[in-house]
Amino acid sequence: MPEPKPTVPASPAGSTATPSGVIADLVRDHGLILRATVALERCAARLTAPGEVDKREREHLALLLGFFRDFAEGIHDAKEEEALIPALVGAGVPADTGIVREIMDVHLQATERLARVTAKRAEPALEPIADYSELLRQHLRAEEHSLFPLVERFLDPASEQRVLVGFRQIEARAGDERGYDGFDREIGRLLAPLDQLYPDRKRPW
Ligand SMILES: [Fe+2]
Ligand SMILES: [Fe+2]
Repeated sequence: MPEPKPTVPASPAGSTATPSGVIADLVRDHGLILRATVALERCAARLTAPGEVDKREREHLALLLGFFRDFAEGIHDAKEEEALIPALVGAGVPADTGIVREIMDVHLQATERLARVTAKRAEPALEPIADYSELLRQHLRAEEHSLFPLVERFLDPASEQRVLVGFRQIEARAGDERGYDGFDREIGRLLAPLDQLYPDRKRPW
């Protein structure tokens, strides 16, 4: 009997724009993580600028750090580590060398650097934030150049559907009512006042 075709449930937030392919799904996550990275860098610039840092700015930083913990690590990294990489390894990509090893190593490094940022939250934190954001930027670029071509090369349509089912299960397991759309709105809300704080700077996002 043929194996039943897996079905991909809607995202927990009921988003109507849930991507239908693995690469499109990860690209969407990467776009949001990049916007949050810009917001984090803006926060860092404010925290290290002369003058008082008000309560609202500290709250922005805390919300951003929560985003990286809950979404970038809790959901996005988990999708890659628990759903995508096992599927690629099952399809013949070596587990202990090359891009797979590099992704796992960088995820660990990012967790350590985020912990350093969090530990220094009560004081100016430009250096650990810069270390963290630079690592993320490099990592997103590296995955887009090295990991995504492996998805195209190694995953057939049925495997890709199974990975997408895994993605939705990880999002559901996170139990975060915000879902992708909620995180997206949250980052938008955090970016808007940061733009007001830097009216003379061109928005890079
Ligand atoms: Fe990653
Ligand atoms: Fe990624």
